[in-house]
Amino acid sequence: MSNSTNLTMDKPTPTSLLDTGAQGLIGEPLQRTEGPLKVSGNATYAAEYALEKVAYGVLVGSDFTLGKITKVDAESVKSLPGVIDVVTDFDSFARNPQQGGETKAPTQGVEDVAYRGEIVAIVVAESFEAARDAAHRVVVEHDAPKAEGRYDFETQRHKTDKPADDQIPAHFSQGDLAGAMAEAPHVLDVTYTTPSQNSAAMEPHATTAHWDEDGILNIYGAYQMPSSDKQQLAKALGVSASKVRIIARYIGGGFGSKLGIAPEAVAAAIAARQLGRPVKCVMARSQVFEATVRRSNTEQRMRLGADAQGKLTAIGHDSLVSNLDGEDFFEPCGMATHFLYAAENREINHDMVRLDWLLAGSMRAPGEAVGQLALECAMDELAEAIGIDPIELRHINEPDCDPETQVPFSSRQLTRCLDEGARKFGWDKRAAPGTTRDGEWLVGLGVAAAARGNMLQKSAAKVTINVLGKATVETDMTDIGTGTYTILGQIAGELLGIPLEDVEVKLGDTNSPPGAGSGGSWGAGSSGSSVYLACENLREQIAEKMGVAAEGLTLKDGHAIGDNRRVSLSELVGDRGLSAEGAIAPGKQEKDTRQSSYGAHFAEVGVNTTTGEVRVRRMLGVFAAGRILNEKTARSQCLGGMTFGIGAALTEDLIHDPRNGKLVNRDLAEYHVPVNADVPQLDVVFLEERDVHANPLHAKGIGELGISGAGAAIANAVYNACGVRVRDFPITLDKIL
Ligand code: MOS
Repeated sequence: MSNSTNLTMDKPTPTSLLDTGAQGLIGEPLQRTEGPLKVSGNATYAAEYALEKVAYGVLVGSDFTLGKITKVDAESVKSLPGVIDVVTDFDSFARNPQQGGETKAPTQGVEDVAYRGEIVAIVVAESFEAARDAAHRVVVEHDAPKAEGRYDFETQRHKTDKPADDQIPAHFSQGDLAGAMAEAPHVLDVTYTTPSQNSAAMEPHATTAHWDEDGILNIYGAYQMPSSDKQQLAKALGVSASKVRIIARYIGGGFGSKLGIAPEAVAAAIAARQLGRPVKCVMARSQVFEATVRRSNTEQRMRLGADAQGKLTAIGHDSLVSNLDGEDFFEPCGMATHFLYAAENREINHDMVRLDWLLAGSMRAPGEAVGQLALECAMDELAEAIGIDPIELRHINEPDCDPETQVPFSSRQLTRCLDEGARKFGWDKRAAPGTTRDGEWLVGLGVAAAARGNMLQKSAAKVTINVLGKATVETDMTDIGTGTYTILGQIAGELLGIPLEDVEVKLGDTNSPPGAGSGGSWGAGSSGSSVYLACENLREQIAEKMGVAAEGLTLKDGHAIGDNRRVSLSELVGDRGLSAEGAIAPGKQEKDTRQSSYGAHFAEVGVNTTTGEVRVRRMLGVFAAGRILNEKTARSQCLGGMTFGIGAALTEDLIHDPRNGKLVNRDLAEYHVPVNADVPQLDVVFLEERDVHANPLHAKGIGELGISGAGAAIANAVYNACGVRVRDFPITLDKIL
């Protein structure tokens, strides 16, 4: 009997076992199963593992901007009380490689410092305080830099290179954009800018590293993608991946910054190897800002051309983004512009400005989050110029298939999201710009579309039913605060007819089957599908034991029912229990259909007539993302995304000193993420949807949908409130007055 099921998504899966609903778990707004552990402080995070003889590491960042290190003066601090060693024998810390990115092999210490704040050493001591004190005293000597630093986007913006076409094409052209623009009766040609941003996850990057007696490196860390992070770490350390085990049971947010490995893990692992004892290292908040990863700043030129009725004939989206020399990653601003609206003539380009700022990489809906700030504000500006309602403009330009490739949409309810939102939000009360007053506030409404591409990532899981009739799910998939523990339990419980409290979900250990990891909004769909397939296999095994066809089997409340018999799972599986593995991989469906989740954001803002201050008064997001697996955790994802939309529109701005690239605001006091006082009541509505092309769950990604377009709805509301169009984000009061 086979005990593993593999599926490559080459065909749609028209039926889903989740539709039977026998156990009543799927879609329910259930509380997070690990919630009580978290609120009682009993969920152990990376920095909280108490290993015997653990030493404390504190990282040293460069306090100069560019140049070759000539000497790290460790001797003077080694004699300080409690200090064990200063370790510099690495240079892999320099970068936080994104998924698929390159990690440099270790050499004898960091040589060339590529940006200010780059980690160059780790001080290890018997206490955190001793290590921190010594780390502040380490003197790092360096040469004068070979070349003049490039620290200012403004002075460098004309020197671009073409980023590599990786999975995402950097350049695309179809038809004759310039010709169409010249002929169109309505044209818009405007440029939006967005600043560097930081993921600002609550939990800083942290590692407890321990080489055990078998020579295995155990890394208790904070990761989004343990199975690929394990490979990156092994490569950085020059050991085989079989020698690395990552344990990441709980993660305090990542938002892209924990997709790849970060300096503290490499430093702690190397120090632990040299010292022969475990080393714990938690990055200081300022180091998280300075030496992990940022979202690139962007300059986005939007060109739209429309006929007299508002039908788009031309869409141009040209982005300038930045990164370090030699880095391939570019912020893919135009990702959704490829398919959001119809237009025959199209150009979508990304060009790279090389800056000596810290690494740019993925953050909270890379591409879409900032790309839709530009595209969806431009649509609003065009609607205003033509004199039609912005929702109507989107209706007019709704494509019936992918406008570039002509493949069908796997599912798409953008216009329904807009219409449903308009009705619920009271869109008909929107008045002309600058005409609605509430005391000293001008009030306005704004709308924007949301789209986030749906992806499937290779993922595997093992599911076991034991002699007690209880189930265990095992995969190295992570729960970064998103609800993975809960939804995987719901899927297994539903398919096996086992109450949720009898399903144990074990995540975040690379000794388990490799999961998709949490990134790109693919986590639930991919890891959930692997659990689905394992459970489907178990159902077949159970049916065989019952002597019935799988279709004739009902599993409910711990019992198998079929052929007029009702047998407990405990009895059926016996002492040896039953287990199965499931694995899913992307296939033809990703190319044969255009897959995306959609939504519509509505915002009401007040703009203070005296100070120019903007307050968001209410927001509504209407989303369609296939099957919703848990209404509560899905909703929380959207609330988080919309909150980040407020940040993108109004507050978040990572500032580089143009003289040296140094981050000016490298803590949560100076880098403003929205706080409670900035976030009003947010409403989220889900439209019923199934996507048979996405995966066997018929669910699409939702994690990053909530941020996509959210900031644009706010910016458009600001314009509607006061008649001032700010194209330079964030919209701070000085830009309005
Ligand atoms: Mo997401 S930025 O792929 O964690």
